[in-house]
Amino acid sequence: MFDFSTVIDRHGTWCTQWDYVADRFGTADLLPFTISDMDFATAPCVLDAISQRLSHGVLGYSRWKNEEFLGAIQHWFSKRFHSSIDTDHIVYGPSVIYMVSQMIRQWSEVGDGVVVHTPAYDAFYKAIEGNERTIAAVPLHQTAEGWRCDMALLESVLAEPRNKILLLCSPHNPTGKVWTREELTTIASLCEKHGVKVISDEIHMDMTWNGHRHIPWCDVAKSDWALFTSGSKSFNIPALTGAYGLIGNETTRNGYLSALKGRDGLSSPSIPAVIAHIAAYEQGEAWLDALRDYLQANMRYIADELNAAFPELNWQPPQSTYLAWIDLRPLHVDDKLLQKILIEQQKVAIMPGYTYGEEGNGFVRLNAGCPRSKLEKGVQALINALHAAR
Ligand SMILES: Cc1ncc(COP(=O)(O)O)c(C=O)c1O
Repeated sequence: MFDFSTVIDRHGTWCTQWDYVADRFGTADLLPFTISDMDFATAPCVLDAISQRLSHGVLGYSRWKNEEFLGAIQHWFSKRFHSSIDTDHIVYGPSVIYMVSQMIRQWSEVGDGVVVHTPAYDAFYKAIEGNERTIAAVPLHQTAEGWRCDMALLESVLAEPRNKILLLCSPHNPTGKVWTREELTTIASLCEKHGVKVISDEIHMDMTWNGHRHIPWCDVAKSDWALFTSGSKSFNIPALTGAYGLIGNETTRNGYLSALKGRDGLSSPSIPAVIAHIAAYEQGEAWLDALRDYLQANMRYIADELNAAFPELNWQPPQSTYLAWIDLRPLHVDDKLLQKILIEQQKVAIMPGYTYGEEGNGFVRLNAGCPRSKLEKGVQALINALHAAR
């Protein structure tokens, strides 16, 4: 019903992934598997809704606090996560990272610590350090059952008085870990016990695989919390610029909204983003489910090819996200040498794991949100480069 196989040429659209690959990798004309957006057109229902709004022609200031937008979000949480949310808790923001950054400022002082599970999405480090807060890292560790958080270690870090906020990534980029209800409940209790507030970034919430279910933070929260998310990953619309969130506590919510509207002058949302979310959440399920099938097949393809070439990797698809976090340590290749070969000989851009902190050494992150024909080239290039680097 939906076509994810046909390649759409993104060159010349000022897109970060293709047109600006040289910014990160030093060379243009690489086949990119990098920043987390996808090479697919968004859902037809989203395109129709935006086109219809554009044909009206008048694009003046607008508001996000309308019944349709709030209702669409409530509907989505109920349908996809069996979570019943209070629409009074909903807030808008231009991007998830803007919202995260703003809450860090609201809830902590310069020099305070923000707890993150590492490896971590690189923008987390930038948001924390850019606000002159410090990173309190809690490394995740890999087990046969997947990535795990040492709760005793987490508690010892949460107990340090200067650590005021836990910035949770749920599901987790880059490992793809989906937090279980039991883990989240434990984390919520620990944060309550130590007076730590929680920012939960749930932008990857729609992309969980193989029976792993996303549990929104609002369903387990105990201490002061903010949940930030967007349809931008799932429906591939980050360039429309729009996100939203839930903040349970009224004073916290008002503080967030007054900074957004007053200090930052962002009271009028991007209307295409608002329209896109309403269309996606009311009519986009069939498209998203077809996309999810395609992405899961992509992940299985990567596992089959990599493990056939290097059985010692025994790489398993992640629990969530279209980002393949690949542990190459069994092959003992040098990260810098591998990057050099990938770029200079294989002409591909694949994120080195150290982008996400030192726990990422020995890993790569390969974005599988693309047509299979492109993915085949990337996986083959990675295999070739690994052979050459050994
Ligand atoms: C965990 C996580 N949060 C936030 C973002 C970016 O969201 P936004 O563009 O809305 O700031 C990404 C994008 O890769 C992400 O992986």
